[in-house]
Amino acid sequence: MISIENVHRHYGKKSILNGVTLQIQDGEIFGLLGPNGAGKSTLLSILTTVMKPSEGQVYMNGFDVTKQHKQIRQMIGYVPQDIALWEELTVKENIRLWSKFIKTKIPKERMIQVCEEVNLHNKWHEKVSQLSGGMKRKLNIAVALLHDPDILLMDEPTVGIDIQSKLEINEYMKVLAKQGKTIVYTTHDMSEIKGLCSRIGVLKKGKLTFIGTIETAKASINNQLNKPIINEEEIIFHLLKD
Ligand SMILES: Nc1ncnc2c1ncn2[C@@H]1O[C@H](COP(=O)(O)OP(=O)(O)OP(=O)(O)O)[C@@H](O)[C@H]1O
Ligand SMILES: [Mg+2]
Repeated sequence: MISIENVHRHYGKKSILNGVTLQIQDGEIFGLLGPNGAGKSTLLSILTTVMKPSEGQVYMNGFDVTKQHKQIRQMIGYVPQDIALWEELTVKENIRLWSKFIKTKIPKERMIQVCEEVNLHNKWHEKVSQLSGGMKRKLNIAVALLHDPDILLMDEPTVGIDIQSKLEINEYMKVLAKQGKTIVYTTHDMSEIKGLCSRIGVLKKGKLTFIGTIETAKASINNQLNKPIINEEEIIFHLLKD
């Protein structure tokens, strides 16, 4: 479970997060939505312990992000928005190197398994520099899953991945959520918002303007309109517009 309590973050005088409060339960795939620059990656960086909140508290499975880095880093898997791989190494070498940052030893079978989950097992010996953009994205996801973390923080993980693989990765995320993992997922992809996320939060200028399911959004938006909106995409558009 993730508990975010009145989190603020400033860069110098610039205010990026302005009092974010949010609880995410085990087994949820929580979609964090919002326009470019809204503060989504900043919030995820705070959850990874890489960045400190300027104000407020965050607890991950009861551990405090500002004081208990070690415990938290073992329980999270982070897929950064900017791909973090060694270009001159192969897929296998990248996975091995990333596994060295994990406290427990990762067996080779597990390394192969995560590659299979993202459809990359046939690229085991290829250099990352020779992979396509989508394949690099898949490897970026695979390394985050290696230690079977309880909490997954995924920052636009499937950008540029082909539709088939994206659907397979989405299905795998649902399996992980069913196992009780907590997943925070930022995306600008309508199909993922509709088909993957169990609940969404809309972040605008560092504030959460909506938290709930698309169904609850539909009910509350339609309550205010004369002509009801039925289409889910229109509801999401409505939530995201200024
Ligand atoms: N290191 C930094 N120093 C100063 N400002 C920063 C820094 N990193 C991010 N920002 C600013 O913080 C704001 C929020 O950025 P952030 O990357 O969290 O947005 P985002 O919602 O993830 O956007 P996107 O959808 O484009 O990924 C932006 O205005 C950005 O310019
Ligand atoms: Mg971002």
